[in-house]
Amino acid sequence: MKVPREWHKSFFKNSFYNPASPAAVGMAPLEAAFVLRQLKLKKGSALLDLCCGPGRHAVEFAKKGLAVTGFDFSGEYLKEAAARAKKKKVSLRLMRGDMRRLKFSGEFDAAVNLFTSFGYFQKFADDLKTLKGVARALRPGGLFLLDLINGDFVRGHFTPRPWHDMGGHYLLEEIELNRDGARNTWTTICKKSGKTRKRSFFTRLYDKRRLSAALGKAGFKPLGFWGSFSGLPLTGERNRLIVLARKI
Ligand SMILES: C[S@@+](CC[C@H](N)C(=O)[O-])C[C@H]1O[C@@H](n2cnc3c(N)ncnc32)[C@H](O)[C@@H]1O
Repeated sequence: MKVPREWHKSFFKNSFYNPASPAAVGMAPLEAAFVLRQLKLKKGSALLDLCCGPGRHAVEFAKKGLAVTGFDFSGEYLKEAAARAKKKKVSLRLMRGDMRRLKFSGEFDAAVNLFTSFGYFQKFADDLKTLKGVARALRPGGLFLLDLINGDFVRGHFTPRPWHDMGGHYLLEEIELNRDGARNTWTTICKKSGKTRKRSFFTRLYDKRRLSAALGKAGFKPLGFWGSFSGLPLTGERNRLIVLARKI
């Protein structure tokens, strides 16, 4: 299966996929509360939500009095984030750009990257560029919380062609695993019209060891790992890999 090098440019569009499903929006307050318990930020602290998408967590952080910058490549999702902030009567600074080319310097107390919004690049050097950009964006001692799909879980529970009923459409995944990660083709079939759409993408699969090594190379020290937003320990049976790291 061939995955386009810059696959994110056609994948993260409302015509194909939007991460703010009603279920995901419903989970956001609990997930944000867990993140804030780990970050222990004072009111007014500057928080970067890297790859904020439609802003479902960013608005929760802003409601708690943080100065939130949401950064994402998708203009469509950023528009949705702005509308969500307006509806919730909070203010967000929203910026469009590529996570590999962050221009911030020492301006954030903390950063987050949630819902497997990292590991998208087929060259590890690009993942490293992203992590180094986050480190540069943080003040000395700043915290970074990353939430990824747990590579150990994916490898241990591998199903090559799962089907999902997504409400208005069906989703078929066709997954190939290799040493680096997963290549996946999603085919969606609209229940009403029968129209199908197809996109392929890549996710580098991280486990605790690999993620710790990458964070270390970028100037972070991991402080803690979890396997769920309810704070359960990380094991191969949990599908999340959540890490809190400090800029050294
Ligand atoms: C799975 S979504 C998660 C969005 C959001 N964090 C959430 O939990 O709803 C991944 C996000 O990463 C963004 N993204 C993908 N590639 C990117 C890139 N190269 N630079 C910046 N953002 C990117 C997408 O536009 C999308 O909003």
